[in-house]
Amino acid sequence: MPNEDIVLYLPIMAEADLQKIVSHCKEYGFIFPSSEIYDNLGAVYDYGPFGVELKNHIKEYWWKSMVQLHENIVGLDSAIFMHPTTWKASGHVDSFSDPLIDNKDSKKRYRADVLLEEKIDKLKEKGEKELTKKGIDLSSPEEDKAKASRDYAKGVALEQEYGKAAEAADFKRYKELIEEYEIACEVSGSRNWTDVRQFNLMFATKMGALDEAATDLYLRPETAQGIFVNFLNVQKTARMKVPFGIAQIGKAFRNEIVARQFIFRMREFEQMEMQFFVRPGTELEWFKTWKETRMNWHLALGTPQENLRFHVHEKLAHYANAAEDIQFKFPIGFKELEGIHSRTDFDLTEHQKFSGKKLQYFDSELNQNYVPYVIETSIGLDRMFLRVLSECLKDETLENGETRTVLKLPPALAPIKVAVLPLVKKDGLAEKAREIFDTLKFTGRFFYEEKDTIGKRYRRMDAIGTPYCITVDHQTLEDNTVTIRERDSMSQERIAIADIEKTVGVKIDMNNLLRKAIA
Ligand code: GAP
Repeated sequence: MPNEDIVLYLPIMAEADLQKIVSHCKEYGFIFPSSEIYDNLGAVYDYGPFGVELKNHIKEYWWKSMVQLHENIVGLDSAIFMHPTTWKASGHVDSFSDPLIDNKDSKKRYRADVLLEEKIDKLKEKGEKELTKKGIDLSSPEEDKAKASRDYAKGVALEQEYGKAAEAADFKRYKELIEEYEIACEVSGSRNWTDVRQFNLMFATKMGALDEAATDLYLRPETAQGIFVNFLNVQKTARMKVPFGIAQIGKAFRNEIVARQFIFRMREFEQMEMQFFVRPGTELEWFKTWKETRMNWHLALGTPQENLRFHVHEKLAHYANAAEDIQFKFPIGFKELEGIHSRTDFDLTEHQKFSGKKLQYFDSELNQNYVPYVIETSIGLDRMFLRVLSECLKDETLENGETRTVLKLPPALAPIKVAVLPLVKKDGLAEKAREIFDTLKFTGRFFYEEKDTIGKRYRRMDAIGTPYCITVDHQTLEDNTVTIRERDSMSQERIAIADIEKTVGVKIDMNNLLRKAIA
């Protein structure tokens, strides 16, 4: 199935920006569509040579900030396959689904809730343009804006109706609203819709050789449940005391109906999740602490505060008593990057019920047994990757009128830290450059390249985000000095070979980034 989704559904303004990231990722070996020679597999992607390095550094930044910097957080790597009852207990079998609707003419499948939400946004945006023309302040109360613009009023009315239908899980009403508000298919342009059906997002498979005896399994849709079922194993073996956390990075799978917008919504993706177990009654304090801690982690990367914001969940899942997202300003608008949820004791209690095994903690200070409450922080690794690319990929016009594409990654995340480049291959420069490379490759990921002009090599290193280039020239042979070029300022300086490690070391050191994250 060719992956055309990206082109078909992106809002016009964002398409160019996101398309630029998609092309850059392909051209420079960050991300390839999966099984490309067979025309791709929808919403599944492979990470190339520089993508995998960047991804590993993001993982390292997250993992160390959790496990290295908190003595009360330990790691786990649980299996993707879990006993099928896990998903019954967690509620995924019964309610991890999306409302799906098909257009009968184009055969294109949509999420009914997304169609309605997009219509609300469009009506409100149209209304806001009208209000701006009339000189009305956009920060006025909703009722005033609705009075002054018909489109805005329609948007507000639809929002209210949709809210009621969502609360009552009334999917028949979703279809009525789609018809009432004349929502058409983007491909066929028609309003010939099927009924709305519930579609479970879990991928099912079978374990065992014989069909009759095989067990039905699911590919995990989140890593969190592997943490819950191991709660006591970890607590006892690592001798943890509440409050404590368990961190895990791993693959998750969701059969997303509308998988689009590149790696923003994928069918196979990676999550970085941490479940923090606390005394009942203290969870909202911890929720606040984790919100701040996670926001600082994001800000330490140098992102301006205006590109990140909290989004409070108005409608809480039945098991949560607080939930907020950290949203990032992606090229497609402010969208969820990370979720922070206060999940009460729901998951552990359900697993107790379904397994018949106690999942309680004995609190020796209180002399009491209880099921701990849980604060969860959950971030998509791929979505974090897209965020980093969105904010770091820049086109710049230089003073001489030339343009360059540069990936201004925080040096600790850069796939390659230092490129060692002989000015020319001959006269012993290549041999000298190799010698420097071989000595320094233990400092971090260094890269040796001798092909093409030095200018072209600099541009290529800019495009993959290499913070430093070291050029070996004829003077190097005489006095053991090299030129070091800094990616962002493009300034060049002559330094001794013996000083390279010291000069670049501070900048590329992950620990310095981690220090900022907890400052
Ligand atoms: N355990 C909680 C949980 O899974 P979620 O909000 O469904 O919560 C958490 O997912 C994070 O995982 C999201 O904030 C997002 O970053 C990432 N994520 C979810 N679905 C995704 C998908 N289809 N593709 C890429 N990332 C996804």
